Amino acid sequence: MQKTKPAPKTIGGYFELQLTPGKEHYPDLVRLNTGRNALEYILKQKGYTKIYIPYFTCDVLLEPIKRLDVAYQFYSINEQFEPIIDFEIEPHACFLYTDYFGIKKETVKNLSEQIKNLIVDNSQAFFSEPLPGIDTFYSCRKFFGVPDGAYLQINKKLGKKLPVDSSTNRFSHLIKSIELGIEAGYSDFKANNDALTDNEIRSMSVLTQKILSGINYADCARIRRQNFNFLHKHLQAHNLFKFDIPDDCSPMVYPFLSNDRDLKLHLIQKKIFVATYWPNVFKWTNNKMYENYLARCLVPLPIDHRYNLQDMFFMLNILQQFL
Ligand SMILES: Cc1ncc(COP(=O)(O)O)c(C=O)c1O
Repeated sequence: MQKTKPAPKTIGGYFELQLTPGKEHYPDLVRLNTGRNALEYILKQKGYTKIYIPYFTCDVLLEPIKRLDVAYQFYSINEQFEPIIDFEIEPHACFLYTDYFGIKKETVKNLSEQIKNLIVDNSQAFFSEPLPGIDTFYSCRKFFGVPDGAYLQINKKLGKKLPVDSSTNRFSHLIKSIELGIEAGYSDFKANNDALTDNEIRSMSVLTQKILSGINYADCARIRRQNFNFLHKHLQAHNLFKFDIPDDCSPMVYPFLSNDRDLKLHLIQKKIFVATYWPNVFKWTNNKMYENYLARCLVPLPIDHRYNLQDMFFMLNILQQFL
């Protein structure tokens, strides 16, 4: 395995990119390069031979599953985004659940009491703390301006040191977005996204870790919560996904569900960039399945720390033109 020698100390020379020092949100968890590789780490360490995964998730999770030749079985979710477990879970298999949008903390807790080998995918729930003893992973780029990076809680850590990842060549979209705007950086974003495919497990790059150390997490969490609450107050009557906001959550996006199959398109035309969770779901499901409908009709509205209530109001006004 490649060993990384610490660089000899230098004094003087040019200034490096100046980042704010501080503390990571999960300083005690294992730092890895990607969320999918955190799943690989769990599968390897626990030696699972089968995994249950939701139809409603991102296909990159199949990378480690296929690489390790682990058998997999899809399961469906109901209108509350909870798993429909109408089958026997095999004793040595694991069961992956996603805390959807970061608002399914209660479901995670219930499942942790019912399912022996639960794995929690908190890629959409950065601010949901891991439950003690439950294997849980986070993907940092879904919440912050970093190109990669993941945290993992697991009680069975690898004995050896991993090679350290390098993010230098996946950074262009982050820099371009500052000077030229989000749209100008989009093709680089896609290319940098693609560059995350099929990488070995590495520990988080020093650059990503440094950026993550300088974030004001309390502010980011508070702003998300505020924006989310504002949208929920104004949209819940129209939202076909009925939910109560859990205490103290700072979700990833506001999940707005309507039967208008073109709503996402209308919003994108107005430069409100909403994602599709997840394009692969159209391949995995047929059009009678709930997940297929969700992939088409679920509109994840941005509520993150870049925006204030005025921005939410602006977005709401545009959205209301189509309701
Ligand atoms: C729900 C979910 N889980 C896991 C991942 C994988 O995270 P990463 O890209 O860090 O591997 C993604 C997306 O990429 C995702 O959407």
